[in-house]
Amino acid sequence: MDLSKFSVHAVVPSEFRDLYELEGDKLEALYSKSKRHQWNAETDVEWKEFDPTADIRDRSTDFMFRLNCVHELSEEQQTALWRGMNIFLISQILHGEQAALMTCGQLVNCVPDLDGKFAAAVQVMDEARHVEVFARYLDCQKARFPIDPDLKWIVESLLAEPEWEAKCVGMQIILESIALSFFRLGEKSAVEPVFKQFIGRVHEDEARHVAYGVLTLEDRIPELPAETRTRLENWAYDAVARLAGRAGRPAFQTQFDALSTIGIDLESFVPKLIAETRDASHIDAEGLEDPMAQTVIPNLIRVGLVPARLVPGYLAQGFRVDLAARRVDDIHSWHAETREMRAEFAREGVDFSKAQEVSRFATS
Ligand SMILES: [Fe+2]
Ligand SMILES: [Fe+2]
Repeated sequence: MDLSKFSVHAVVPSEFRDLYELEGDKLEALYSKSKRHQWNAETDVEWKEFDPTADIRDRSTDFMFRLNCVHELSEEQQTALWRGMNIFLISQILHGEQAALMTCGQLVNCVPDLDGKFAAAVQVMDEARHVEVFARYLDCQKARFPIDPDLKWIVESLLAEPEWEAKCVGMQIILESIALSFFRLGEKSAVEPVFKQFIGRVHEDEARHVAYGVLTLEDRIPELPAETRTRLENWAYDAVARLAGRAGRPAFQTQFDALSTIGIDLESFVPKLIAETRDASHIDAEGLEDPMAQTVIPNLIRVGLVPARLVPGYLAQGFRVDLAARRVDDIHSWHAETREMRAEFAREGVDFSKAQEVSRFATS
C-alpha cells in the first residue's frame, strides 16, 4: 500500500446565508479567544536549542517502561526503543494535523452558522501551524514514519463524509480528543528542550478545538432525527473499537515495522511483549492515562452519542461506562467483567468490534 499519498473524492455541501449576526454565544467567545492566542511556530520557538541526545519525553510515564521485556533490553536499545516510539507517535500526530487542516477547511463550507464558520476558520490557521511545528520538529529529529492504515482509514472516511455533524464527531471529538490526551501527557512529560517549548502551546490550541466540537454537537445532536443519531453513535463506536485496538485486533500495527528500523530483534521481542501485555494486571498502572477513557468516551457521552445499547460493547473493550453518572472507568481487557462480557459475546457469535452486532445483541 502506498502511504505516501492518497486522495479522497469529497462532495461538501457549502452553506451560504445572508445572515451576519453573531449569536454572541460560546462559539463566538471561542473564536475571539483563538484570535488573541495565535503564535508563530517559526519565531516563537527557539529551534537552535534542539538537543538531539535528549529523550523527547520522560520514559517513566509510559506503560512500556513498566514491562520486564523492555527492562531486559540493553540501555542503548531502551533509548532507541523510546525514541522510535515517540517518533512514530509524533509522525501520526503530524499526519493527523494535516487531516485536521483539511477537514476543518471543509467545515468552513458546510457548517451553516457564521460563528461556526469563524471558529472553523481560525482552527484552520491553528492546524496549519501545528503541521508546521511537528514537521519542523521531525526534521530536527531527522526521522518520520508514514501514516498508519488505521489513521488513514478514519481520515478518508471523515473527508468523504457528506454531513458536517459526522465530520465534527470524527475530527473534534475522536481524533482531537486522542491528540489532546497526548498533548496533555506530552506537556507533563516533555524533556527535550524544543519539544518542551511548543507542546504546551499546541495543547492549549487543541483544547479549544475539542471545546468547539463539544459545544457545537451537544446542542445539535438532540435535534437530529433518530436515524441520523443512530448512524453517528455507531460510527463513533466503530472508530473507538478500531483506534483503541481493544476489540480483537491491535491498532496501529505499523509501529512494529517502525521498531524494526531501530535495531531491536522483533522476533524475540514481540512475542514477549504480547505475552506480558495480555494480562498486565501485575503492572503498576498508577498515573497511566488512556485517551479513550479519559477524553474520547466522556466527550461522546457529553454530546449524547453513547446509547445504552452499546454499553456492553464498550465494556468488552475494557471501558466500563456508567451513563447515569456520566463516568468511564478504564478497567482494561484483563478485568473479570471485561472477560465475562467477551465470553458472552463469543457464545452469541457477536463481533464486538462492530456497533451493529453489539446492537443486535442488545435487542435480542
Ligand atoms: Fe492540531
Ligand atoms: Fe486541532
